[in-house]
Parts: sequence; C-alpha cells; structure tokens
Amino acid sequence: MEVFPDYAALSQRAAEIVIGLLKEKPDAVLGLPTGSTPVGFYDALVASGVSLARARTFNLDEYLGLPRTHPESYYSFMKRMLYDRTDLRPENCHIPDGTAADPEAECRRYEEAIRAAGGLDILILGVGHNGHIGFNEPGAPWDGRTRIVELAERTRQANARFFNNNIDEVPRRAITMGIGTILEARRLLLLANGAGKAPIVQRLVEGEPTPEVPASVLHYHPDATVLLDTEAASLLR
Ligand code: F6R
Repeated sequence: MEVFPDYAALSQRAAEIVIGLLKEKPDAVLGLPTGSTPVGFYDALVASGVSLARARTFNLDEYLGLPRTHPESYYSFMKRMLYDRTDLRPENCHIPDGTAADPEAECRRYEEAIRAAGGLDILILGVGHNGHIGFNEPGAPWDGRTRIVELAERTRQANARFFNNNIDEVPRRAITMGIGTILEARRLLLLANGAGKAPIVQRLVEGEPTPEVPASVLHYHPDATVLLDTEAASLLR
C-alpha cells in the first residue's frame, strides 16, 4: 500500500508504474478501468508522451446494450481518455462489445483474446463504494470469468451522474472480466481517492478477505498494490 498527499501524486505514481513497465516491455498488455478514479492516471500517462504504439489494452467492462457511440459507453470514455490521445493502434484496443448479437459468445471471445495476447501484464483497478471491482458486485464468485452481470442498485445510483442524474437511463447489465480473470493478471494496481472511498478502503485493507468485498480478493494476489490519497486512507489505523 502506498499513500499520497493528493490525487495528482497518486495518479502520477500509477502512470510511472505503467511507463516503467512499457520501457521494459513495449508490447505490454494493459488491463484498464473507466470511471472517475483513473482520469488523472490517463492524463499523466498521456502527458508523459510515452509510446503505446506496441502496447495492447483490455478494458475491464462495458455496459450491455449501450451502443459504442453513446457518450457514456466505456468505449467512448476510453476513446476520449486514451485511444484518441496516444499512438495506441486501434486493433490493439480491446473492450467487450456490449452490443454483440450473442453476448455470451462475446464473453468467451474476450477471454480468449486476453489469453491469445499472453495474459495481462498489469491490471489497473478502481473500487466501487460497495467494494466491487470491474462490475463484480458483492457475492460475485472468486473464480468467475468474463460474463454478463446485473449491476447493483448502489452502482446504478453512483453511475446515474453520467446519465442526466436519471437512474432509469443507467443500463441494468454489463459484461465484466470475472474475479478469476482479474486474479490471473501478473500485477494488480488498485487506485482509490477521496473521502467517499475511505469506508470501503478500510474494509478492504483491514478486514478479513470476503466475497462480500470483492476487492478484498487482492489479499490473495502475489503482486497487488493499493495506491491511495490521504482522504481515501483517512480511516486506516
Ligand atoms: C470501471 C470499473 C468500476 C470502477 C468503480 C469505481 O471500469 O471497473 O469497478 O472502477 O465503479 O468508479 P469510480 O472511479 O468512478 O469511483
């Protein structure tokens, strides 16, 4: 665990870890999140000017049924944050297709694509207020693979801010990497910032690992690091 004075420093550190990996392995396979937490990380990565020309990326999740062109699809988010601002090649940017005609087949295809790329060298994670990682909500199986899931009410409420503050517009289902998929990444980096995350960070760091706090599975990963700002760390002993 590392605690930083502010969000900018936390984001910078996350970017430096990825930049270091890319120096060693320019064709590294990066697992990436969306949401508010990683915005500073993407900004720092882009500002560094590091080349992603040979890197491959796989996102954690995507809403089911939302067209890629919708401004709140995770594809659109990634396009704004990273794809359009770096030399990443479009064919190397992977994200589940939430509009696939056969979503179950899409989940299997996605798992296979990760395997074919050689697995994830690093996976960056945010954490939900209820402890979710990707869209693996409390109770999700720890050996789960990429699959279709129902979003928890709490998650839909949290994400309504991106959908005109109208929970009815928030999709009810998503495709997400499973916890089993996540655990196979060679390195995990979980980022959390802000006072709102302090209670879940406390449960994650100080509590017993339990499927009720999906992020607590990080305790079982051999190379997992949690990066916090002081606010997110404020309830830790
Ligand atoms: C997004 C994802 C989610 C978010 C989590 C935190 O791809 O996997 O688990 O990381 O919902 O979201 P923010 O960062 O908006 O607080």
